[in-house]
Amino acid sequence: MIVIETEVFVKDISASAICPSGASTGTYEAFEKRDINNKKYLGKSVLKPVEFINKVISNKLKNFNVHQQEKIDNLLIRLDGTKQKKRVGANAILSVSIASAKASSKSENLDLHNYFNILLSNKMGKTIDQVIPIPMLNILNGGEHADNNIDIQEFMIIPKGAVNFSQAMQWSSEIYWNLKSILKEKGLSTAVGDEGGFAPNLNTNREALELIARAVDKTDLKLGSDICISLDCAASEFYENGTYHLKGEDRELTSSEFAEYLEGLANDFPIMSIEDGMDENDLEGWKVLTKQIGGKCQLVGDDLFATNPEVLKKGISDEIANSVLIKYNQIGTISETLETISIALNNDYQNIISHRSGETEDSSISDLAVGTGAGQIKTGAPCRSERVAKYNRLYWIDKKNSFSYG
Ligand code: PGA
Ligand code: ZN
Repeated sequence: MIVIETEVFVKDISASAICPSGASTGTYEAFEKRDINNKKYLGKSVLKPVEFINKVISNKLKNFNVHQQEKIDNLLIRLDGTKQKKRVGANAILSVSIASAKASSKSENLDLHNYFNILLSNKMGKTIDQVIPIPMLNILNGGEHADNNIDIQEFMIIPKGAVNFSQAMQWSSEIYWNLKSILKEKGLSTAVGDEGGFAPNLNTNREALELIARAVDKTDLKLGSDICISLDCAASEFYENGTYHLKGEDRELTSSEFAEYLEGLANDFPIMSIEDGMDENDLEGWKVLTKQIGGKCQLVGDDLFATNPEVLKKGISDEIANSVLIKYNQIGTISETLETISIALNNDYQNIISHRSGETEDSSISDLAVGTGAGQIKTGAPCRSERVAKYNRLYWIDKKNSFSYG
């Protein structure tokens, strides 16, 4: 995977940040710029945006006050000048924005989560409590994240009953390894998908849930109280011409039939959260789903809101979903990300901080989750270093502070 890493220097210190990349991207996301006309890396190289950082952005930021995050971000936004950051690319802009945040906090001897917390508290005009988030671990991968036949993209476990983060990770790891042995016994593949979850071929989405339930049963934990389930349908990936195409099950469903299908799953399994249950443009479908299960289920907009303040505001006024997934490369700067988070907070929408399928060793989303008090993070299975790096970072923040959990 080709991504951009930027280093920002302040006197004798420096800090760097890497912008991740997504596979199931939404239409409303900021633009990820690549050198499509260059054959290097099969058209995926980023030489142009890197040149722009080195030649233009670095000059403009020379002698700039690194502690003025909003001014830095506004400058980056102005330099691009397009709505979806098509000129410079959100991948270039975000790497500068995060690296500046890291450099600022480092030069002040401040942990990054504290820096994010100060920014958000100042913005909201009140103190935001920092919180160690409950992880949602994606232990079974489908959709665009795997080469199997499962249509739903992510099957996650939520260690809801754990008393602290360490216990949450212990429980989740045990369930993950149990799932591996169950798949092995059944002669199914234990190869993993993009986010570290297993990616076997199965007959139905329901079968995936049954396997996870069996993996929980093999521990002393109770499904429904200790452990709950969360789904990311990434439904825009299988919605076409008004129809939801469940290829793995050989079924085609209308909006209301698919909402009913999800309600059926939520009735039979303790599903606490469903992300992108409907296509990003299926407003009527979202209204039906929200009305049907929004009262008992966290309904999360990922492609639907694209971490975009304006798109989220519209969704809130349309009364669709009740939570927003926060991926800062969907919008492109820290300041705009905090704007979206504050809109959600002001409207009782839950924030969930998220990784991308194309992740790196950069663990700053863990700091973002703690500093904004989001309460939830999704960052993959307890497998593959780019996922585990985020859990390790949370572990150390937890050890060094006395923040509450979840
Ligand atoms: P993406 O997947 O990074 O491929 O968009 C993550 C998600 O949809 O939550
Ligand atoms: Zn998603």
